[in-house]
Amino acid sequence: MNKLILNADVEKGKINKNIYGHFAEHLGRCIYKGIWVGEDSEIPNTGGIRTDVLEALKKLDIPVLRWPGGCFASEYHWKDGVGPREERPEIINTLWGGVVENNHFGTHEFFDLCDRLGAEPYICGNVGSGTVQEMQQWVEYMTFDGQSPMADWRRENGRDEPWKLKYFGVGNENWGWGGFMRPEYYADLYRRYQTFVRDYGDNEIYRIACGANVDDYNWTDVLMREASDFMDGLSFHYYVHPGGWDNKKAATGFAEDEWFETMQKTLRMDELLTKHSTIMDKYDPDKEVGLIVDEWGGWYKVKEGTNPGFLYQQNTLRDALLAGVTLNIFNDHSDRVQMANIAQTVNVLQSMVLTDKEKMILTPTYHVFEMYKVHQDATLLSLDLQSEEYKYKDEEIPAVSASASKDDEGTINITICNMNPNQEVKINSRLAGVEGNLADITGRVLTAPELDTHNTFDNPELVEPTEFTNANLTEDGFEVVLPEKSVVLLSLS
Ligand code: AHR
Repeated sequence: MNKLILNADVEKGKINKNIYGHFAEHLGRCIYKGIWVGEDSEIPNTGGIRTDVLEALKKLDIPVLRWPGGCFASEYHWKDGVGPREERPEIINTLWGGVVENNHFGTHEFFDLCDRLGAEPYICGNVGSGTVQEMQQWVEYMTFDGQSPMADWRRENGRDEPWKLKYFGVGNENWGWGGFMRPEYYADLYRRYQTFVRDYGDNEIYRIACGANVDDYNWTDVLMREASDFMDGLSFHYYVHPGGWDNKKAATGFAEDEWFETMQKTLRMDELLTKHSTIMDKYDPDKEVGLIVDEWGGWYKVKEGTNPGFLYQQNTLRDALLAGVTLNIFNDHSDRVQMANIAQTVNVLQSMVLTDKEKMILTPTYHVFEMYKVHQDATLLSLDLQSEEYKYKDEEIPAVSASASKDDEGTINITICNMNPNQEVKINSRLAGVEGNLADITGRVLTAPELDTHNTFDNPELVEPTEFTNANLTEDGFEVVLPEKSVVLLSLS
């Protein structure tokens, strides 16, 4: 029997809207062709940015966007990406596909994108192959108001006012392609680099240190011990790979074994966050340092026939469940998790939209982000869920994941995922602590006939949210029947 008890008067703090953040790297067709086509392109664009992609992303209320990488950040030299575009140097993107990077999308273009999206920029600096001076000058270029070589250069390049920049990452995956460093060494480098990430005028930077990969708890421990006094956030990366890193499986055409494994690995996020947070608590009991999950999502084998370095993959109903369950987990950990950035926005890994020349489609993951935006900056409510198990062969996981929040108007939004692909789930819910009477329950559902149903350029609307009518108010709460393999949003007012 499934039971959900929601205590509407037990508020558990605000869900930082940045948990619904995104990440766009110079990788494959994410920036070039996906976001940026240039002003002279035949593809309709707004100042060089694809208009279709821009309009689609605007509907997600993206709070924060991380750029330029990822691994690319550890080879990025920002000076290559400012000034007249035709004079910018062409380099090779050695990490991702070995293709030419013409640097046409640089600092100015990124801030313009964020501005048009209404998103806060989150810049990841280069600790891997960049100097302290280079990082210091980038921050000066972006944020210094007075006269200085960098601020003057920015003006020469067409931007008079400094930009507001809050989030700055000091390095990316420095335990891996960001330099293969040991945590003790990186902790010292972090302390040094961050010193020169200066706050100019009233621009206050939230400094994010490179954090652990998956279950590298020692990295978290060392960074917190050696450098927590110098950071506002510590990052953390976790990707779901059915089959494992060395034996990635396809994004489509999979059977239930891979569905189950994906759900199991998705749920692991809860355990990882709990353990990293517990270590952080040891050094920071007041939870002043945020845990910043600045890369997460499903990572499969690339689509056949595409450049393996472009990480292009389809996005199915399975990804909708992966996203829905993960976002529920983030909400639950929002006392520590202050930001998360799904990888990546367009055409790379678990994308929001996919493009093919002038065509664009929305993915199931896009729809989950659109449904879940009700949680952004809302108040997390206490929710106790007793879920039946979803059994596969001799293993089992809970079938249901849920999260609830209350918005400023008092509407209670509950997002519920049924991971069981074979069985609908009936939930009786008891609501306590509601002021006045609830008069209305409405819903939306995202589901599809097959495990791997996905939108295509020929059939772009196969997976879309529809109205959900299988929920009713009862005397002490509500009753809902979730279809198998579905993501549901219920709104109670
Ligand atoms: O998102 C793709 C890559 O995954 C990023 O560049 C890197 O940081 C991570 O390993």
